[in-house]
Amino acid sequence: MGQRYIGAKTRVVDEILRYIKKVVPAGGTVADLMCGNGSVSLKLRKSGYKVIAVDVLCQAYHITRTKVLLQDPPPFCGAKRYFKGDGQLLLAELSGYGMIVQTLNNLLPVEGYFWREFSPEGKPSNGSTPRKYFSAENAKKIDAVRAFIKKLVEEKAITDIEYSLLIHDLIMASNNIANIAGTYGHYLSKFVPRALQPIEFISTKFERGGLLEGHKIMNGYAEKLAPIIEADLCYIDPPYKKRQYAANYHIPETIARGDEPEAQGKSGLRPWLDQYSDFCSKRKIRSAFETIIANAKSSRFLVSYSSEGLLSRKEMVDAFSKFGDVAVTEFPIKRFKSRNEHASEKVMEYLFYLQREPIVQIPE
Ligand SMILES: C[S@@+](CC[C@H](N)C(=O)[O-])C[C@H]1O[C@@H](n2cnc3c(N)ncnc32)[C@H](O)[C@@H]1O
Repeated sequence: MGQRYIGAKTRVVDEILRYIKKVVPAGGTVADLMCGNGSVSLKLRKSGYKVIAVDVLCQAYHITRTKVLLQDPPPFCGAKRYFKGDGQLLLAELSGYGMIVQTLNNLLPVEGYFWREFSPEGKPSNGSTPRKYFSAENAKKIDAVRAFIKKLVEEKAITDIEYSLLIHDLIMASNNIANIAGTYGHYLSKFVPRALQPIEFISTKFERGGLLEGHKIMNGYAEKLAPIIEADLCYIDPPYKKRQYAANYHIPETIARGDEPEAQGKSGLRPWLDQYSDFCSKRKIRSAFETIIANAKSSRFLVSYSSEGLLSRKEMVDAFSKFGDVAVTEFPIKRFKSRNEHASEKVMEYLFYLQREPIVQIPE
């Protein structure tokens, strides 16, 4: 299963790339300003573009780094002294990455933060009823892996990209056995069979193709980073509903940040207002778009949006028209549904293309 990310463009990425290729030749730089799980960034890299990827969530940063920057497994040379086999496979036969994955599978469980806050055996620190995001055994394994990664970092045994890969792998493995219906907004009241399976770490398969270097992945608000974005085209894929990603993906965010925040309320959400998105507010969304378009060093913008979004197609065109010419294409796609929904309605996916007029400099 890996990751089910609301609004992920996996199913329409070819359509998006077809459009981008019409206006930017391979070798150019394309910024993916709300990169999420990196599906568009990866496709851009594989199509020969230099990629600048941005997202306000730390999980998106590590996931996209892993997808875009790695075409082969990193060697994990500095972590050799920590490798642990299971007695069956000869460690010497595996690559450094193979050994680290096997080590993760063999770590002894630890009763830590995930066990206490997110499993039925734990006692949440705010006195809430024990939560059921993970079985107690799986939560203890997640705690063990978190502690192991922390130790590797503290002892400088891994590189930055090896760290991103381990965070990516822990998020994906946890998603497979999380007792949720699509997002982490709340856990399910009864454990589903999938969530009772033991957590398993499987080596990530890396995708090849495109430039090995010249990419930049950043963590932060697109509005704030816009002034340092210099690209032939900026692709923007904002949230289109009120649902905040930081709240709905709070557990992968805690894995990505490697911290132990206060788990608030019944659902145990991390305090997430520092990652609040103005794109989830009908009042603030226009000025958020304007800040990006006015400040990014780019004259072309391509924006994905949905007919179910906070703004209508006409409102979007009106918002962008003040910057230059706008063209719109649309195509039908199936709605995102959580695991316990059966709806298969189609909605329209929009692509707004804006060619911004050159900003005229007043001569001194
Ligand atoms: C529709 S998803 C993007 C999906 C992505 N294109 C993919 O294929 O996985 C929207 C993303 O925007 C991010 N986001 C929301 N507001 C943001 C902001 N102001 N700056 C940067 N990222 C933001 C969210 O964290 C989320 O990952």
